[in-house]
Amino acid sequence: MRHLLSTDGLDAATATAILDTADELKRTLLGREVRKLPTLRGRTVITLFYENSTRTRVSFEIAGKWMSADVVNVSAGGSSVGKGESLRDTALTLSAAGADCVVIRHPASGAAHRLAGWLAETGTSVINAGDGTHEHPTQALLDAATLRERLGGLEGRRVTIVGDVLHSRVARSNAHLLPLLGAEVTLVAPPTLLPVGVESWPVTVSHDLDAALPATDAVMMLRVQAERMHGGFFPSAREYAIAYGLNETRLKLLPEHAVVLHPGPMLRGMEIASAVADAPNAVITEQVRNGVHVRMAVLYHLLAGEGEKS
Ligand code: CP
Repeated sequence: MRHLLSTDGLDAATATAILDTADELKRTLLGREVRKLPTLRGRTVITLFYENSTRTRVSFEIAGKWMSADVVNVSAGGSSVGKGESLRDTALTLSAAGADCVVIRHPASGAAHRLAGWLAETGTSVINAGDGTHEHPTQALLDAATLRERLGGLEGRRVTIVGDVLHSRVARSNAHLLPLLGAEVTLVAPPTLLPVGVESWPVTVSHDLDAALPATDAVMMLRVQAERMHGGFFPSAREYAIAYGLNETRLKLLPEHAVVLHPGPMLRGMEIASAVADAPNAVITEQVRNGVHVRMAVLYHLLAGEGEKS
């Protein structure tokens, strides 16, 4: 594997290999005082973020460092992007400076694919850390890792993804990855927050959260992305929270074994009540923890061993 740009097109064997590696890394590092493996010594990973991030950026940095790679963080605000340098020139500059891998987050859908095209003649790999409303493949992989761990597998498991699907790269990546791994995915959203073409996704669509919850093994709440709603928000925030927010009353509709996920950052009181976010069956902190091991696994599959590059 040379790049990780999307889950759409990823095959089940590759996804499973990444998840198995992440599990093994987690087991290996569990309880260790010094969490450092020599695997990527001498490799350089550059994170290039044009949008804000806490979880993704920090976990890629930790993942690289725990595998002994040199990790350099570049944000658009503190770089020559602020002087008008193009994304292409920035990418070629980072590659020329010695990047074995560029981890990019960008507000434009398709930015990671463009970067991979521009770097085709170099040895630099590209990881998509979120491009516009398109994809966030490592988030879906860490969600899958958490679901496998908590539900004992994904085959036949029913996952309900709720909320602002229209603007959610997390929903899109999960809508491809989870069915690939055997799960049945239902998207629950108001009609105004569903993308055109959702009928072609391998999922079921519903507008009724209360009806979906009793037949759910895992419910994934999505953040309402106000920053991408330039034309306003319909339904209103209050209407949204009433119809689509996961509150304590709705939590009781879930089977006892069901878990609650959220990719973060959460808007407590909007898509998820504070008491639900902190409930015993919420696995939101575990998702973050698994994110480090999954990103270590992705770096391993891309960068360990020259022979695997094509
Ligand atoms: N889930 C996620 O991508 O979070 P950040 O924006 O904090 O990276």
